[in-house]
Amino acid sequence: MSYSITLEPNGLQFECSESETLIEAGQRVDIRFPVSCRNGVCHICRAELIQGRIETRTGELVSPNDTNEIYVCHVKPHTDVTIYMDGVLGPGELPMNTFSCQIKQVSEMQAHVYKVVLEQPAGKLKEFYAGQYLALLLPEREDETYFSIASAPNQREIELHIQADPHLEKALEVVQFLQTSASVQVKLPFGKACLSSVPSEPVLLLAAGTGFAQMKSLIEYLLGNGFDKELSLYWTARKESDLYALDYVKDLEDRYENVHIQTIVADDDQVQSQSTQHHSLLADAVLEGHGDLSRFKVFVAGSPRMVYSAMDALEDAGLEHENFYSDVLEYVSRDQI
Ligand code: FES
Repeated sequence: MSYSITLEPNGLQFECSESETLIEAGQRVDIRFPVSCRNGVCHICRAELIQGRIETRTGELVSPNDTNEIYVCHVKPHTDVTIYMDGVLGPGELPMNTFSCQIKQVSEMQAHVYKVVLEQPAGKLKEFYAGQYLALLLPEREDETYFSIASAPNQREIELHIQADPHLEKALEVVQFLQTSASVQVKLPFGKACLSSVPSEPVLLLAAGTGFAQMKSLIEYLLGNGFDKELSLYWTARKESDLYALDYVKDLEDRYENVHIQTIVADDDQVQSQSTQHHSLLADAVLEGHGDLSRFKVFVAGSPRMVYSAMDALEDAGLEHENFYSDVLEYVSRDQI
């Protein structure tokens, strides 16, 4: 007999037979629990029984009327069960880590954009997926400052691109801190616009300004893992000089047959980031070479207006909604733009 197990607060669900423990069944479907001893001693797997009846290691049948406290490494279900447990990770979810990194490099690349290279502590590397972002925690600031990760996962060095124009006070403060400090606290990973594995579909990347950083992480991950489908980057900026890594992308295009780069420069302040005209230039550039987008995955980094404008145009050309990825969708709704 098999029962449905629901985990709160994240709403994960899985099936568990009456002959296996909750942990055995959860791990079968790639759910990760906090566990250590697995025999009821360490209590790290403590959870709260909210609903249902379970069998303890001693064979006792227990419901929430008897006790709320259970240890999931050795209980088995006798009904459908709901439990509350912190620290559980669903399939593909990565643990959040806060740690100190050495600051190895802070250098201006071009047009007030700084390349920052951080080095993780020796030992096990902190996990993130290509396309995710991190937070820098500055000692003087209570809030976190978020930046896309510009390098691929599984390397000790983490690269960031920080735009610090004279009017961007917060970014300037971050750059000044990084230029004058030996280490910085980092928290990661954040963001769902990422790749946890190499896709079977071709990939289009659309970026404005330093949105390129997220695309660089995706490109390096994909090429580093043998991706051989079309990989096209559309990179837009106000001026050619704002395309701060042109040599890098041109070199990629020369070296990889499946990589295509198109830059779009709107050399006019009136046609800069908030304008519909500028956004349609980007979408037009994509659509020019791609009549039907139904088999593509698309990642977009830019202003909310640019992201929603691209989403509408590309979905009109057949792109599946679930294949459109942008961090903007998580924090700005369409009616806020
Ligand atoms: S893992 Fe130690 S008590 Fe469950």
